[in-house]
Amino acid sequence: VFVPMCLLGCQRFSSPSQNYSTLLLEEDNGVLYVGARGALYALDTTNISTPGNLTIDWEASAEQKKQCLNKGKDNQTDCYNHIRFLQRYNETHLYVCGTHAFRPLCAYIDVERFTFSSGFEEGRDRCPYDPAKGYTGLLVDGEMFSASQYEFRSSPDVRRNFPFPTLRTEESPTRWLLEADFVGSVLLKESVNSSVGDDDKIYFFFTERSQEQMAYPSQTRVARVARICKGDWGGQRTLQRKWTSFLKARLVCSVPDYELHLNVLRSVFVLEGPDVHSTVFYGIFGLEWKNIKASAVCQYSFTDIQRAFEGPYMEVQDSKWREYTGKVPVPRPGSCITDMHRSQGINSSRDLPDNVLAFAIQHPLMSTQVHPIGEHPLLFKRSVNYVKMAVHRVAALDGHVYTVLFFGTDEGWLHRAVAIGGQMHIIEELQLFVNPQPIDNMVISQAQGSIYVASNSAVLQVPLSSCQRYTSCFDCIFARDPFCAWDGALCVKMSSRTNRSNLTQDIQEGKRGCDNIVHRRRTVMSGDDVLLHCDLRSNLATPRWTLDGHQLQGYGLDSGHRVGTDGLLLISARPDQSGDYRCYAVENDMWVPVRMYTVRVHPDLPTEQPLPSLLAPLPPGPKFQTYRHMEAMYISLVAVLGGLCLVLTVVLLYVSFCSRGPYQGCNKRGRHSLSVSNLGDGFLQIAPAEGSRGKSPPPPAPPLPMPPPLPSSEYASSEYTNGMSATLPSVLRKMNGNSYVLLRQTTDPEGSTSPLYHSFTEELNRILEKRKHTQLDPQATDESSV
Ligand SMILES: *[C@@H]1O[C@H](CO)[C@@H](O)[C@H](O)[C@H]1NC(C)=O
Ligand SMILES: *[C@@H]1O[C@H](CO)[C@@H](O)[C@H](O)[C@H]1NC(C)=O
Ligand SMILES: *[C@@H]1O[C@H](CO)[C@@H](O)[C@H](O)[C@H]1NC(C)=O
Ligand SMILES: *[C@@H]1O[C@H](CO)[C@@H](O)[C@H](O)[C@H]1NC(C)=O
Ligand SMILES: *[C@@H]1O[C@H](CO)[C@@H](O)[C@H](O)[C@H]1NC(C)=O
Repeated sequence: VFVPMCLLGCQRFSSPSQNYSTLLLEEDNGVLYVGARGALYALDTTNISTPGNLTIDWEASAEQKKQCLNKGKDNQTDCYNHIRFLQRYNETHLYVCGTHAFRPLCAYIDVERFTFSSGFEEGRDRCPYDPAKGYTGLLVDGEMFSASQYEFRSSPDVRRNFPFPTLRTEESPTRWLLEADFVGSVLLKESVNSSVGDDDKIYFFFTERSQEQMAYPSQTRVARVARICKGDWGGQRTLQRKWTSFLKARLVCSVPDYELHLNVLRSVFVLEGPDVHSTVFYGIFGLEWKNIKASAVCQYSFTDIQRAFEGPYMEVQDSKWREYTGKVPVPRPGSCITDMHRSQGINSSRDLPDNVLAFAIQHPLMSTQVHPIGEHPLLFKRSVNYVKMAVHRVAALDGHVYTVLFFGTDEGWLHRAVAIGGQMHIIEELQLFVNPQPIDNMVISQAQGSIYVASNSAVLQVPLSSCQRYTSCFDCIFARDPFCAWDGALCVKMSSRTNRSNLTQDIQEGKRGCDNIVHRRRTVMSGDDVLLHCDLRSNLATPRWTLDGHQLQGYGLDSGHRVGTDGLLLISARPDQSGDYRCYAVENDMWVPVRMYTVRVHPDLPTEQPLPSLLAPLPPGPKFQTYRHMEAMYISLVAVLGGLCLVLTVVLLYVSFCSRGPYQGCNKRGRHSLSVSNLGDGFLQIAPAEGSRGKSPPPPAPPLPMPPPLPSSEYASSEYTNGMSATLPSVLRKMNGNSYVLLRQTTDPEGSTSPLYHSFTEELNRILEKRKHTQLDPQATDESSV
């Protein structure tokens, strides 16, 4: 549901400082540690706006700022102390690093008193100088691992910062990293229950300049995952103080339908399972061209990553990277020390033979690419840049565990999506910040049922779900929000109820359980004009439409849709207009849901065929029309249309003859009934609607070119002002009978209630509709356009 501001249940923390970039959540202690520009805060997780939180002021000295300015750095952003690293060191202390006006420093924080417990340490090798540089780091068992391009001129590096000896990546003769921009890292404890005595591993996620041949020469960057073994100590002679276990592989995230390769990794979230094989991670990908907004979310399994690292290597041959097909030394280069190594007397990486290490220097890159689960993104969105994400799993009423994903945009929005059957549904979009600003960081607290969102100006605590925002059964069920269920009167948080027997929820379909939800499916062809009918019961109400929970804006011709009093018209539908449409009657700020449509717009058929839209929605199967059937139908339709023209011509001649001539009876007869039989299927009739309409006004006529000047045209034209046509004549006149589609809602799809129609178009639509029902589409629920 579109919500312009964070209204319900949001808590906000801000202070004179800005750039709240670093978050450390400790649920057990109920503390959210925040690192900002020049300060650190310890906030109460139950309510981060509770006053009296602990604070450490840590700004760079005036002298240091002056030196920074002398280096030519930006006095607005660079010459401050931006906190970049903040993690738990041991039971009593945190470890923190800041950019400190281009001279990074680190320090220990005594958690109890929330003060620095010692002097500052040199941070040059642990923290980047530039507050905006990609950076990731971990503290594991008193060891610090980090990855960044630390100094302006230095090469990017994956490091073990302490204890001694420090370890780094190799730069010659093969550079292991090229202009790498790091976005995340994770420790996976693969030693636990390992049958081969495996080591724990640390994975790093980044984008770098591509070395290998790219499918698209215009793309210069490539998304990667790299890993090192935690127990790596470097080599003895070869690869001294360098990783012996550094391997990297390419991450692929492409949208096959658009042949789009999203090659820049913006953010990752690792969702840990009980073991490494059930652990997955999600990546947000974008394009390297900054001016094009697009986001894809791909999901990967660590099993696939492991497989890539166990597969063939790449090697430079004739200055090109190619798959290496030669002999691989034993033990396998780049692997962790396992029982197999130990049985050969190799107890640590220092015992590895030189030939293995020499091979490792030259072969950091794997040939196998890591593809997403299902080979395609879970979500692809144009015109939006997701920059941060967090993922949460929640058990729904149906017993399934659903994955709920939170995305932060570069403009301060929070999107919430739920993965249902391999597809992602965005269920909420919240604008968290009035001034557009990128979301810098997000963490989820299961215990608090909150997500903490950090940006330049503030930290917000947002409920994982606000069920009370759904005011009707329809809204509650249709939202498909696994946190929420309808109890017969209210939309309630599931976790707030111990007795769930009277709760209703339908995550899979989003429609069961409420009596009054009218839900229709529409499958149309790209280019069709589609009218989604929605009659408002109150004259005071204004219609409002949402697409996938997002309010439809803009009524210009280029917006692709127009809203009328009786429905929504999609003009020349595009595939990206597919989705769930909802019509609301809005009165006094109350949004009352009226109808819901699930619209699927098929892309164009590759070849021109008669009546392509009749073919398109057909699933391949026994019911599939043969081309011959189509041809016959097309011909018969042409015959119908031809016949119609003929009749009209006759009528025209007749009318003009009558109006000129002295025959007084003509006019009267023509006005009352004109029936054309013997044409087509014989059920085509043109009847002026006089007398047959009764008291209730008919559905508005599809605003097509005005019917020919039939004697009855005065009736018809008076009706045209009723519907959308009054506002849309210029648009609609451009349409021909085949491209304009009226999808009228009747509870009886055969429409046997009224045999009388008030326009040609509707008449033709009925014919085509009938054909479709009888021949093409046996499912009344999945209706298609013609
Ligand atoms: C810090 O915040 C300001 C706006 O308040 C923004 O212009 C700047 O880019 C931010 N710096 C970083 C490193 O995020
Ligand atoms: C959180 O704390 C603020 C400030 O004390 C208070 O105004 C607000 O009502 C609190 N919110 C909740 C949900 O307790
Ligand atoms: C930054 O530098 C500009 C120009 O040198 C100066 O006008 C401005 O006051 C400085 N801002 C700060 C915060 O020092
Ligand atoms: C934690 O580390 C700090 C800093 O090295 C040290 O002073 C402190 O004694 C350590 N605490 C424990 C419980 O080991
Ligand atoms: C490896 O460890 C075993 C048992 O601890 C020892 O016998 C062996 O000499 C060690 N090998 C090397 C190369 O240090």
